[in-house]
Amino acid sequence: MSTYVDNYLPDLGPDNADITSHDAYTTGVPHATFERLRQTEPVFWTDETDGSGFWSILRYDDALAVSRDVDTFTSVKGIRLEEMDAEQTEARRTMMEFDPPDHTRLRRLVSKGFTRRTVEGFEDAIRALAAEVIDQALTNDEFDFVTAIAEQLPMRMLGRLLGTSDDDGHRLVRWGDALLGNTDPEFTDFPVDLTDTEQFRMVPFRSPAAIEIFQFAQEQAAERRTCPSGDIISQLLEPTSDGEPLTDLEFNNFFTLLVAAGNDTTRYTMTHGVWTMMNHPTLWEAWKADPTLTETAVEEILRTSAVTMHFRRTATRDVEMRGKTIKAGDKVVIWFNSANHDADAFPNPWRFDLARDKNDHMAFGRNGPHLCLGAWLARMEVRLVFEELMKRIDRFEPNGEVEYLRSNFIAGMKHLPVRVIRDSEHV
Ligand code: HEM
Repeated sequence: MSTYVDNYLPDLGPDNADITSHDAYTTGVPHATFERLRQTEPVFWTDETDGSGFWSILRYDDALAVSRDVDTFTSVKGIRLEEMDAEQTEARRTMMEFDPPDHTRLRRLVSKGFTRRTVEGFEDAIRALAAEVIDQALTNDEFDFVTAIAEQLPMRMLGRLLGTSDDDGHRLVRWGDALLGNTDPEFTDFPVDLTDTEQFRMVPFRSPAAIEIFQFAQEQAAERRTCPSGDIISQLLEPTSDGEPLTDLEFNNFFTLLVAAGNDTTRYTMTHGVWTMMNHPTLWEAWKADPTLTETAVEEILRTSAVTMHFRRTATRDVEMRGKTIKAGDKVVIWFNSANHDADAFPNPWRFDLARDKNDHMAFGRNGPHLCLGAWLARMEVRLVFEELMKRIDRFEPNGEVEYLRSNFIAGMKHLPVRVIRDSEHV
């Protein structure tokens, strides 16, 4: 049975999209545009309406070089496209907006909780949670895969690590949506480019949800201070290696970062995987017939979904790249989704291959200090959902229109209606 399909995305979208426009992503990532730019102008400049602008880095080797070279490409001035003044940058700073060694000091507070080994210790718990969520969804024959399954697991799992209750899970999902979906009217009453969000300029993602999260974070901190419990929130309250604990603001921002980063990203990755298997049943059959494909299949889902499409750095000195001069102070945006489809790094990039053997994708970044903290957790959650689905269903069939997130930052299907086709033995 073949392990691959070519042209896994039958439609790469328009080749003349404005890649900064959130609306350009509401019918899916405009891959054809990225492909054209990757070929013709892999380092290119975009003017922004506020008078600033940024360089896009579209090729894999360049993306890797920028991620690694933290002296030339700093995170300290911000990691999003949004232009922030110094006061805002300070108020909203997390470890993501630090370079080593400050970054290392903060990351060490929680990094042990996310190592491969620690996360493997959660396998049984995650599997049980995945099984429970899937069984619940499968009491119906038709449902939205995203709301019924994909959004449930990551937040409940993150809740276990943080030490928050399952009852709080729904709020955390809603808040996570409002942060990462801060440009989509389905997820917030204050889409940042469509409404006036000036009053929220000092909080993460310019989102009112951040204010609620801060309050929740402080309540959780107060509980842990009277009764420490070894969970991630308790770890965040311990002194860092310089002997001082985080300030309340640093703690609030760190907590908010975890809620934002650990929720929708994993959800959209599994959803992309299910969409792919549903639309290419030969892949699903091949995978089910040979479970040894699981590890490479999960990596291929990560490569092709590249849910976190970009992060930004700022040049600290003039530097030449592909014939362009990036000036000190210029914003530089690494497009992970584009790097992941670069034919020089991934032969046949539009081939979805369950058995792709060299797959050093950049869905989690790569080799830089900011490499995704939750990578092992996310991988495991994706794997277990597919393993538990395989045990229970023959396949899914499409059952309506896919709806995409309105965002130039996060690539996600926010609704994926499916119909369950059950194995005769499981009926
Ligand atoms: C499939 C799901 C996920 C994807 C695609 C993803 C993607 C990314 C990317 C691209 C980065 C930045 C890498 C860089 O700039 O070099 C990142 C950083 C980060 N991710 Fe994830 N992520 C996922 C899941 C998670 C989960 C489950 C957590 C758990 C809390 C998490 C927490 C973080 C944190 C805290 C950072 C900042 C790390 C740092 O600055 O040191 N992510 N992620």
